Amino acid sequence: MTEMSAESYWMATSKAKTYPALSEQAEADVAVVGGGIAGIATAWELARTGRSVLLLEADRLAAGVTGYTTGRLSAAHPWIYAQLRDGYGMETARLYARSQQEAVEHVIATAERLGIDADIERRPSHVYVEQPERVQDLRVEVEAAQQAGLAASFVTGTDLPYEVAGALRVEDQVQFHPRRYLLALVEELSRTGGRVHEHTRVIEMDQGRPTRLVTDTGATVRANQVVIATLFPALGWELLGSRLTPLRELVIATPISEDSDPGGMYITREENTRSVRTAPYRDGQRLLLITGESFPPGTTDVAARRQHLIEWTRRHFQVNDIAYWWAAQDLDTADKIPYVGRISDNVYVATGYARSGMSHGIMTGRLLKGLICGQEPPWADVYAPGRRHFTQEIGPISKTLWSKTRRAAADHARAMATSADDIPRGSGAVVRHHGRLRAVYKGDDGTAHWLSPYCSHFRCLVSFNHTERVWECPCHGCRYAPDGSVLQGPATASLHPETPAPGTPRQG
Ligand SMILES: Cc1cc2nc3c(=O)[nH]c(=O)nc-3n(C[C@H](O)[C@H](O)[C@H](O)COP(=O)(O)OP(=O)(O)OC[C@H]3O[C@@H](n4cnc5c(N)ncnc54)[C@H](O)[C@@H]3O)c2cc1C
Ligand code: FES
Repeated sequence: MTEMSAESYWMATSKAKTYPALSEQAEADVAVVGGGIAGIATAWELARTGRSVLLLEADRLAAGVTGYTTGRLSAAHPWIYAQLRDGYGMETARLYARSQQEAVEHVIATAERLGIDADIERRPSHVYVEQPERVQDLRVEVEAAQQAGLAASFVTGTDLPYEVAGALRVEDQVQFHPRRYLLALVEELSRTGGRVHEHTRVIEMDQGRPTRLVTDTGATVRANQVVIATLFPALGWELLGSRLTPLRELVIATPISEDSDPGGMYITREENTRSVRTAPYRDGQRLLLITGESFPPGTTDVAARRQHLIEWTRRHFQVNDIAYWWAAQDLDTADKIPYVGRISDNVYVATGYARSGMSHGIMTGRLLKGLICGQEPPWADVYAPGRRHFTQEIGPISKTLWSKTRRAAADHARAMATSADDIPRGSGAVVRHHGRLRAVYKGDDGTAHWLSPYCSHFRCLVSFNHTERVWECPCHGCRYAPDGSVLQGPATASLHPETPAPGTPRQG
């Protein structure tokens, strides 16, 4: 078998211009923090209204979760419409469906207008079940989606190479190359006066009029309005912390012949989630993308899960080599609706897209533009971060807190029983060392790197993900490189370096 490339297909097949780090004090009408789909869409929409916009990205643009997505752009989100109708009312379901379908059409219209080549393909989108006993629930979901205004139908036949018991099908949804689309928007933003800065992490926010942002480059920004689009809110997170749960998923991609293309997008929550789509590839071939195996960050058996996904793919499709694999995480909310809107006087947030962030991200740009410009869209209240759906939220919040508590106890016990000598080269673990817990990474040459095992965000215990060689925090999803530097927020500070007790060998 050819060696799989441990990178995202979207990252590997799009050229990104570079933008300078912010090196001097700056002022703007609006500062957008975070350059994923949410931040880019918002900055681009606002710049078109004539406002001065500053987009600040800690790393590279469209290279966070957005660079590692599957790229289905669809209003047919799995298992949402019956919950919206029955939990929050028919009008909420209608407004949600409308905002999502408008987002899909907005991408098509924008790409056409700006001449963006982002491999945009109209395809039907399906939510399917294989278990016959789930069909009745699916029929209820189809009815709710229809009542919400989507052109949804119940079907039993699909072009998948395996049987399904039933599927909700919505025509004319979109699959695309998300990075090519978004990087083109950034170029337009920059050409038309928007200021864009990469490698500029915002580490502090003083709310006021204007709000002041401090960055890790030493520059400060004064902005009348601030949008926090950092996946998990890096600043102002306190209001939402317990209502957001991080979940990682794996994606594998493999060439298939054009005539075995299943001709649409498919998702099921059975089998711990499976999502299927294809993308244009080389002559006579399509690239099949399979996503699945949800797990919390900090889970250590990632390689086994990846193997499971590969075996599932081989059982269901005729494939040879797996060309790419990658993993990424998104955040679920307790009531299944993202938080997008104002969180305080002049600060806005966008988070909790629950792996439907392509349409949610585009919706966010339109919604925040409306709020900031005083032209609120009719569906703004559906996403308001200040909403309270106590009855629906209490169950998921308690479940999440309980599993985090159990997990923390298990991680702590495992660390207490592990010694630095047990760690193989190229791996890491939290260990007990002279009565204290330490995070130890052992490099390929055997050199040990000692760190504090407590996440710099809110002091949960980190674990080492051996497959991707990163430290991960199960609480809100921070990720750190083996040397402790931040790879993914909400943390803005590294894991603290520690020194081993005197006499401890540096190599092993
Ligand atoms: C495996 C997987 C598959 C998915 N597939 C689909 C799909 O098919 N369809 C779909 O609709 N959705 C899908 N999703 C969900 C979707 O990809 C995400 O919801 C979406 O990309 C999130 O975008 P974002 O802009 O909120 O976050 P990100 O893309 O992560 O962007 C946030 C940015 O903020 C930056 N940042 C963080 N902290 C700071 C700071 N302090 N200062 C400055 N910048 C900062 C980060 O570096 C990052 O670039 C999938 C998710 C996963 C995990
Ligand atoms: S991510 Fe919040 S405590 Fe680690």
